[in-house]
Amino acid sequence: MIFSQTDRLALRVLEKNELPRLVKLFDVWDVVRLLEVVPYPYTMKDAEEFYANIEPCYRAGEPQFYAMALKSDNLLIGGVGLHAPRGSDSAEGDVELGYWLGKDFWGQGLMTEAARVVLGIGFARSATRAIVATTAPNNRASQNVLAKIGLRNLGPAPRDYTALRGNDEVVKWQITREEYEAKRVEDKTIR
Ligand SMILES: CC(C)(COP(=O)(O)OP(=O)(O)OC[C@H]1O[C@@H](n2cnc3c(N)ncnc32)[C@H](O)[C@@H]1OP(=O)(O)O)[C@@H](O)C(=O)NCCC(=O)NCCS
Repeated sequence: MIFSQTDRLALRVLEKNELPRLVKLFDVWDVVRLLEVVPYPYTMKDAEEFYANIEPCYRAGEPQFYAMALKSDNLLIGGVGLHAPRGSDSAEGDVELGYWLGKDFWGQGLMTEAARVVLGIGFARSATRAIVATTAPNNRASQNVLAKIGLRNLGPAPRDYTALRGNDEVVKWQITREEYEAKRVEDKTIR
C-alpha cells in the first residue's frame, strides 16, 4: 500500500519480507551512530521487534513508519517515522518526526523530499499541534533537513529519554500547526 509519492519516491507500508533488507541498511555504524535508540549491531531480531511495533498502526490506519522506496525499482532505501515524542517535556498533540536513509543514498536531497511530504501527512491529522524532532548536536545533515522543511531550532536541551548511546545534550526542533499553515500561505505567495 502506497501512502504518498514524490518525484522520486514512494512512501509506503514496510512489508514483512523486507526485514532482511532493513537489517542490511541499518547494520551500518554511520547510519545508526546518531540514532540513539537503534541497536548496533542491528539484527533480524531487532527488525522483527520493530515490525511487531509498527504493524498494528498500519492496520489501525495511522502509520508510525513510512517505508521509503525509489519509484524506479521499489527497493526499500530508508524510512520516516511519525510517532509519540520520546521526551518527557512534550505537549498534548506533539508528534515526533524521525528518519534515516541507507548510506548509499545520502546527499541526493532524498530525505528533504520525503520528510516534507511526511510533515504534510502529520498535519493532516487533526489532533497534531506541532511536529517536533530531536537531533544530536553534531548531526548537520539532519539539522539541514529539518531547517529546509521549516522546523525551528529551539536550541540545546538535556536529553530526557533513555538512549543506548550518544550525547547528554540534544537539539530540539519544532514547527507548530500555525507556523506550518502560515508557511504554506507564504510559499504560495512566493510562487
Ligand atoms: C540525515 C539523513 C537522513 C540526511 O539524508 P539525505 O537524503 O542525505 O539529506 P539531503 O540530501 O536531503 O540533505 C539535506 C541537506 O543537508 C546537507 N548535508 C547532507 N549531508 C551532510 C553532512 N554530512 N554534513 C553537512 N550537511 C550535509 C545537504 O547538502 C542538504 O543541504 P543543501 O540542500 O543545502 O545542500 C542521512 O544523512 C542519514 O540517514 N543519516 C543517518 C541517520 C540520521 O542521522 N537520522 C536523523 C536522526 S535525527
